Formats: sequence, C-alpha cells, structure tokens
Amino acid sequence: MTFAQTYPEHVATLQRGYEAALAAHGFDAVVLCSGTATMKNRFDDQAWPLSPTPAFAHWCPLPEPDAFVVVRPGKQPQLVRTVVDDFWEVPAKAESEHFWPSFELVEVKPGLAGDVLPNSKVAVITRDPGTSPPGTVNPPGLIAALDLLRTRKTAYEIACLVEASRRAAIGHKHAARVFQAGTPSELELHLAYLQASEQDDAAAPYKGIVALGAHTAILHYVAYQRHRISGDTSFLIDAGAKVLGYGSDITRTHVRGTGTGARRFQNLLAHVDAVQQDIVRRIRPGMSYEDLHDDAHHKLAVALRELGIGRGSPAELVERGITRALFPHGLGHSLGICVHDAGMKPRPPRPDNKFLRNTSVIEAGQVFTIEPGVYVIDGLLGPLQADDRRDLLDWSAIADLREFGGIRIEDNVLVEATGIRNLTREAFAAV
Ligand code: GLY
Ligand code: MN
Ligand code: MN
Repeated sequence: MTFAQTYPEHVATLQRGYEAALAAHGFDAVVLCSGTATMKNRFDDQAWPLSPTPAFAHWCPLPEPDAFVVVRPGKQPQLVRTVVDDFWEVPAKAESEHFWPSFELVEVKPGLAGDVLPNSKVAVITRDPGTSPPGTVNPPGLIAALDLLRTRKTAYEIACLVEASRRAAIGHKHAARVFQAGTPSELELHLAYLQASEQDDAAAPYKGIVALGAHTAILHYVAYQRHRISGDTSFLIDAGAKVLGYGSDITRTHVRGTGTGARRFQNLLAHVDAVQQDIVRRIRPGMSYEDLHDDAHHKLAVALRELGIGRGSPAELVERGITRALFPHGLGHSLGICVHDAGMKPRPPRPDNKFLRNTSVIEAGQVFTIEPGVYVIDGLLGPLQADDRRDLLDWSAIADLREFGGIRIEDNVLVEATGIRNLTREAFAAV
C-alpha cells in the first residue's frame, strides 16, 4: 500500500482521537504549530533544520516553519502556511505529496497567521511558547492525551516506520562491511552509514552514535574521531533513518580480531544478542514493559554467570546492583516521531530503574525499542570493586573487555493483537 492509500485513514483516526480529547479537556479547537526557525547564532543568517512540534508532525509531514494545523470537531483540518517571499532560501520539502488533499489549505504572509487562526476556547500546542498564537498554550492534560494517541500507530505510521527501518538496515549493513574490511575511523564509519542510508546528518532522527573500542561504552558518544584504528577492536553503531517524520532507532555491535579480548567480547556479544531476542519473543499485549526490563536484568545475569564474568547467583547479580552497573540504561522507549517519544510513561519507574523511559502496559499498536546492553563503565564499576561486592565479578574478564567498551543490540518492535513484528530484523532480512 502506498502512503497516499493509508494516509486518509490515518487522518480520520487522528480526527476522531482529537475530537474526543478536545471534548474531554473543554476546548473547541486546537492549533498545532510546526515551530519557528531557530537561528544557529546571531551572525551567520542560518537556522537549524526544523524539528517540528510532535503533535504537528503527527498530522502533517511538512518540515516547514510557521505552519499550523487547525483541528476543529466536524470540520476538515486546516493547514495554514506562512508564505515567505525570499530569494535566499527555500524550506525543506516533504518527501511525498500525498498529504495535501486531506487539508483545507490557507496561505498567509509572515506575521499574519493570527488573523486566520481560531481564538475562542483554543488550545495551542507548540515547541516555542514564546512565539505562540493566542490561546491556552500547551495545557498539560490535553498534551498527555495527544501524546497517548501517538503511541497507537496507524497503518500509515507503520508503513513510514517500515521504510525508515529498511533505509537504516541498508546503512547498518554497509557500515558493518566497511568495519570488517579495513581500518576505518569513527568519522569514516559515520559518513559511510549516512551515505548508504541516503541522509544528511542533520536530518537523521537522532545523531548517530558511532564508536570504536572503549568509546562504545559511552552511551551517547557522537565525538567521532578521524584517526583510523587497526587491529582487534569493537564497533557500536546506533543509528536510524527518518521517513515523513518517523524515525527508526537501531543499534548493532561488531567485533574484529582473534585475540583473547576480542574472543571474550564476541562471546558476550552473542549472549547479549540471544538475550535481546528472548525478550522480544516474550512480548505480548497486557504485559508491563517494566517487567520486561526486570526480566532483561535477570537474563543478562544468567548470561554473565554462564560466561564466568559474574560470580554470584543470577539473583545476587541483580539484587546487589551488578547488572545495573553493567547495564545502566532502560530497556527501551516509545518510538515514532521522536526517537524517545512521549506517551509510554504513565508513571515513573521504580527508583532502581530510574532511566527507564517506558512504564506502560504493552498494547497492540505500540512501537518501542528493545535495547539491552553490557558496558565496561569504570565510573559505575569502581564502587563495586571498592566494597564487598568485589567477589561478584571476574575483574580479569572486565580488564580484557575494557578496551572493547560495550555492547548494545537494539530493535524496533511493533506490537500486534497476538504477538509482535520485529521491524528491524524484518528489514535486515529483506535488504
Ligand atoms: N539512539 C538513542 C537510543 O537508543 O535511545
Ligand atoms: Mn533507542
Ligand atoms: Mn538507539
């Protein structure tokens, strides 16, 4: 099915959801602002590419500043565009034209959108409250309802995410080949990924995390080095692709070499990959995502024990904080318009899961990531070595692994009524 075929039903679904949310929160209309251009600095006459307000992007894939979607019960949605007469620049285009017929189009001169936007009992949803049109700006109850709508994906959104996964899988496979075939630098691997996935760095859903060796243990590493690395090493790449506003978010870890450290790391990598796939296989509607996160700790503890890296029982490794030092982040998060999208955190996680971004009950239509990892992060392991937990880890194994850094395996999963689709592994198998 094409985007043009699935988009009208997407808009009809949003219209129904928005009408219910407006009625529940006492508004007659909502104005969704794309956002205003953000200048890079005061001197260079250049703005950052627009990252639109998520509620706007949910309706409309036009990444254009000062555009507005107006939603009113029983009326066709309006798309209000600010037309700028400018010979210096042109706003980025959407990559497909399928969305225009779904809107009543209104064009205004700069600064005049206020003349055509509704102004009684109106909510305004914007990333730039300082330049908002009149209305109640970002009412929290309505925002929470609209965020929740984004967690139940329509067929159109799934098609966008499938294509975003396909492009990312091409990039990942190419980057893996470049790593295995030579001695590339981090910067070369980052550029190789972008070229193969046909995207500009600034248009990626999340700046690619591309790291070699010990840098792979730095969770959000983007300080790509230019020097080439030869010999035994590891390579972690956490990168996606964006299609019509929807991004994929995929991590793979690779290793090169035959030395003791490389073999140990390879073995651990195979175990983390198996744990990741075990967790994905368990997912069903009705489960709690936080239970999956807890299960990931248990499964990683079993793997660490089996590999001789962990020395206590699996229960001890979890309860005494060993797995939390090695796997400090959350198992995953909602995915769609934002890489860490909102709407799947109805309550805070337990204090011991403090970085977990998903505490929802799993339901059909959700798309989220499953991304367990194991990292040698000295700042987190140091306290264990300094107290009575030191005997729970094999420190010579940790020493072997240190220069290889860390491992993360991240897939994007769509929940269906009776199971799941692993959009990432489907894409890897297809490209
Ligand atoms: N790429 C960021 C994350 O995986 O959460
Ligand atoms: Mn992620
Ligand atoms: Mn990621």
